[in-house]
Amino acid sequence: MEQYIIKGGNPLVGEVEIGGAKNAALAILAAAIMTDETVTIENIPDVNDINVLLEAIEGIGAAIQRIDRHSVKINGSGIRDFNIEYDYIKKIRASYYLLGALLGKYKKAEVALPGGCNIGSRPIDQHLKGFRALGAYVDIEHGKIIAEADRLKGSHIYFDVVTVGATINVMMTASMSEGLTILENVAKEPHVVDVANFLNSMGADIRGAGTDVIKIRGVSKLHSTTYSIIPDQIEAGTFMFAAAATRGDVTVMNVIPKHLEATIAKLVEMGCEVEEFDDAVRVVSKGDLRKTHVKTLPYPGFPTDMQPQIGVTLALSRGTSTITESIFENRFKYLSELARMGAKVKVEGNSATIEGVKALSAARVSAPDLRAGAALVIAGLATDGVTIVDDIMYIQRGYERFEEKLASLGAVIERVSTEREIQKFRLRVS
Ligand code: UD1
Repeated sequence: MEQYIIKGGNPLVGEVEIGGAKNAALAILAAAIMTDETVTIENIPDVNDINVLLEAIEGIGAAIQRIDRHSVKINGSGIRDFNIEYDYIKKIRASYYLLGALLGKYKKAEVALPGGCNIGSRPIDQHLKGFRALGAYVDIEHGKIIAEADRLKGSHIYFDVVTVGATINVMMTASMSEGLTILENVAKEPHVVDVANFLNSMGADIRGAGTDVIKIRGVSKLHSTTYSIIPDQIEAGTFMFAAAATRGDVTVMNVIPKHLEATIAKLVEMGCEVEEFDDAVRVVSKGDLRKTHVKTLPYPGFPTDMQPQIGVTLALSRGTSTITESIFENRFKYLSELARMGAKVKVEGNSATIEGVKALSAARVSAPDLRAGAALVIAGLATDGVTIVDDIMYIQRGYERFEEKLASLGAVIERVSTEREIQKFRLRVS
């Protein structure tokens, strides 16, 4: 088991290159099997979730050729197996995008039913509702979703909740269903738009992605393409809050500032200076930070995936802040870890009250999930003393070379796996 060990107290300063968006890449890699021609995808982040999905895709017979660390060629012509095993779904829920992709292309798919996860119960009823509306028979048997259709026909679908996953999954299937599909009350996240752009570059006819209504005219075949994935707004935002919490000066490079507006607005309210460039954003944090109130919402609202990072920063900001988590029911676990570092927090249902303290104290804490883990690293960086973050496999699911990027900004952080390495680190920094 690996840990991060951090000697905090240094402001982060410098420039950091942001990678491709993990959540866009997961959907795009799944969608790439929808043609028998070879698809080249660039700017893929080299993180564990992506590698697991590529294994799942290879496992059903697609050919995967790694070109370099961030590019891959996929050819789906050899797919003979339409069954995605529980092992993959358990490791990475987003393997369920293969359900929409396989169903659209082959009219048949079997994917293990994902369970809940560390941040909540996460139902998939809206995905299934969409597939059924397109004419698929969908059954759940022996822990599997079995979807099959003689013909898939366009339909008018109104989602009951705004969901990124169902919007993307149903959009993929609809792009190879006959006739017109209209999806209403869809998610507008940048990665929904990226998946639509990707499918269009393969010959799909999808309009309106990024608005509340997506219209899709089905096509019978998709073709080869070369596509580069958008920058990861959550990775970028994580470094922006790390800059704020450590009173640093960080420029995130290779980003789309428009995708970061909710984050930028909160940083400004909290007293940071934020400068936007064409493809970079600079965050300067001087003096005291101020409280604010946050409610997570679908895009363009404040992202739930950035909630722990702002939560940690608010724990170090003057005044009493509140956070309302309106997307997932169980996303405050990091606050009890943060309380062990001296944060003053109170959680009631989906709301948290955070009374800022002058300083946190270093402690050994556990990453409860991906984003919460990154947030606890931020807490460690902003705290004098030596913090150890356990269970960093969660962080490695979604952040490429996290400790290297932080170290390049002046952080003192190492990945260790033995008590001996921990002792050595302590001796070195003491
Ligand atoms: C995606 C992201 C995740 C992010 C989330 C919200 C990926 C791989 N993951 O997750 O990082 O936190 O969007 O921005 O892209 N819901 C239903 N029924 C459904 C589907 C969803 O009730 O069929 C509910 C969920 O429980 C949740 C809300 O809708 O309360 C939003 O979920 P959704 O947008 O689907 O999240 P994911 O796509 O799973």
